[in-house]
Amino acid sequence: MPIAYHKKENVFKIDTEHTSYLIGLADKPAYVGHIYYGGRIADHDLEYLLRTEENPFVPSKNARDKLLFMDAFPFELPTHGVGDFRGDALRVRTENGTEVLELHYVSHEILQEKPQLKGLPATFGKEAQTLKILTEDKVVGVQAELSYSVFANSDALIRSVRIINRGKKPVYLEKVYSASFDMDDTGFDLITLHGGWARERHITRNPVNYGFQGLSSCRGESSHQHHPFLALAAKGADQTQGEVYGLHFVYSGNFCGSVYKGQFDQLRVMLGIAEENFCWKLEPGEDFQAPEAVLTYTAEGLGGMSRVYHDLYRQHLIRSPYLKKKRPILINNWEATYFDFDEKKLLAIAKEAAKSGIEMLVMDDGWFGSRNDDRSALGDWFVNEKKLKGGLKKLVDGVNALGMKFGIWFEPEMISPDSDLYRAHPDWAIAVPGRRAVMGRDQYVLDLSRKEIRDYVFERVSAILDSANIEYVKWDMNRQLTDLGSYDLPADRQGELSHRYVLAVYELQERLIRRYPKLLLENCSGGGARFDPGMLYYSPQIWCSDDTDAVERLMIQEGTALVYPLSAMGAHVSDCPNHALGRVTPFATRGYVALAGTFGYELDITKIPEADRAMIPKQVAMYHKYHNLVADGDYYRIASYGENHSYDCYMTVKKDRSEALLTYVQVIAQANTKTRKIRLQGLDAAKQYRIKRFNMETGKEEAYSLKGTYHGDTLMQAGILIDKTWGDFQGMLLHIVAV
Ligand code: GLA
Repeated sequence: MPIAYHKKENVFKIDTEHTSYLIGLADKPAYVGHIYYGGRIADHDLEYLLRTEENPFVPSKNARDKLLFMDAFPFELPTHGVGDFRGDALRVRTENGTEVLELHYVSHEILQEKPQLKGLPATFGKEAQTLKILTEDKVVGVQAELSYSVFANSDALIRSVRIINRGKKPVYLEKVYSASFDMDDTGFDLITLHGGWARERHITRNPVNYGFQGLSSCRGESSHQHHPFLALAAKGADQTQGEVYGLHFVYSGNFCGSVYKGQFDQLRVMLGIAEENFCWKLEPGEDFQAPEAVLTYTAEGLGGMSRVYHDLYRQHLIRSPYLKKKRPILINNWEATYFDFDEKKLLAIAKEAAKSGIEMLVMDDGWFGSRNDDRSALGDWFVNEKKLKGGLKKLVDGVNALGMKFGIWFEPEMISPDSDLYRAHPDWAIAVPGRRAVMGRDQYVLDLSRKEIRDYVFERVSAILDSANIEYVKWDMNRQLTDLGSYDLPADRQGELSHRYVLAVYELQERLIRRYPKLLLENCSGGGARFDPGMLYYSPQIWCSDDTDAVERLMIQEGTALVYPLSAMGAHVSDCPNHALGRVTPFATRGYVALAGTFGYELDITKIPEADRAMIPKQVAMYHKYHNLVADGDYYRIASYGENHSYDCYMTVKKDRSEALLTYVQVIAQANTKTRKIRLQGLDAAKQYRIKRFNMETGKEEAYSLKGTYHGDTLMQAGILIDKTWGDFQGMLLHIVAV
């Protein structure tokens, strides 16, 4: 039984194979407190960790100092206004304008399942248990149901919260976080992912200090700038060892994550929907479901944490049938043509691509309405037959006749002021009546909280998908939300718009994948601004970044792979000089780097240098040979270019440890060096392995300089030597196979 209630001690114990999470009830009426989260332990007799036997004790024993208690007790869901000054996770405004709330335990239940959340992405799976603890503030008539789920085969813990208005009057939720827990600070660093457009998810690590540290997005999407993830790593924890706690939010809109270090050297870690731009009205009897947060604990360092997240998302979050299917190698025409294309150009690209073994053509932005640049036509989802002469079906049939699949780009959430749609429905854009809304990339955001607008979008997207054999959709979202105002919502519900918008995106994508269950959906947002676990529930892959430069991608992909399986990362080989920053890297290296994701091309294959074109079939062979190892394997980070500014190295290892793939990129060469020693990870210490090197010139494996067979423990403890290469930006792929 992974979840148990120990009545005598009033303790709930949630176990996974390697972790335990303990919750205790203290005092009468009882407060719900956090006892312990960490490595698996046998004892449940740990109520002493709530520290209620020391001053100020509990309010029933020492009412005089209740304030001291409230400001020190490790609440599982701290509330506002009753003396806990370390940050609240729940704030409710009543009709009389006050915001005071104190929760007491009411009841609990243990379910033999993982319930789904209505309208929200959520982890799923059999062999799961869920603990629900119901708490209540009797004065306000508000209940909070705390939910904790575990799966038999995972070390992750899934938390969420549901708020129910049991009172007679409406209340306003001003803040509902999904997870919060307190622990003693034994010396932690805070790890987060930060960035910007074309620089997504760079890893940063800083010591936790007194006061608040945190990150958030109020951009209406999870954002380029910050990621809904934080980890606390013990000082000295690295890729292979050390305690690490992770929190990741299964949500695609505004979020806030924080760590607070208080007067007693204790930490409070929290994650949830940002309170800014959020206020949700709950009528009597209504409830509000907050999204899920995925918590992890491991003593096996950052690598251990990554593997827990990767497996959880592959087994319990991504639903697409493509999770287990080989993704077609695609060629996208964005960097090839931008808006300047017609059916002839696309067919020429497809023809050349088919010869090289590329399996799908994706037609990007610019095929609809009067869109010849990024200033117009979003919302006019009608094929531009001046561009695509003969229509879409003819083009798709032509591509299919070459033996290739066809995919298409949409940006369904947007509306250009210069569009027929806007001219007909100016009130469909998110805006405050009487104010001219802020423009971003010359476009506004559709008010998807309105059903008629969602229906229009869905009708247009499906009409296009029904008109031809389209097997892939790239769903883009290219600007952030401003001017929050909806023509439809009453004044006291305007604060719901941001969250309603996210729910609307989820509803639309749910409808899409239900109607087209075989469709391969790739999410995208100006590159990777909505790369989050919420979107993974709908699409098995997300475009990682508009920066396709192989060197920059090393850091973007390293940060992304800290929490996401490689199979989720959209990665393409593009042309050089790179369009984002002008760097020239070898075509082979661009291939090695893109192999760590979904693998595809983003270039005009009819125009690239002959030598590059000739290499594509070799890269295609590489993908076919190794994609299983990359998509399903365990990921090990060996070295980080972001840290050492010299070289990058990572491995993926088959679950049975019979095979591994090592990618090494020498980013900056140095003179007068010895061969570099690399210690492998993840192998079977007792197995013997042989090392082969993939030769991109021939598309075949050949002998490596280390020609013997080597024990796994030797390779992991003593390491291997990396053959010297000449010049910057040189990549190498080693296939390590058990004999
Ligand atoms: C975004 C995407 C790109 C491309 C363009 C089209 O920036 O990230 O890949 O689709 O939009 O406008």
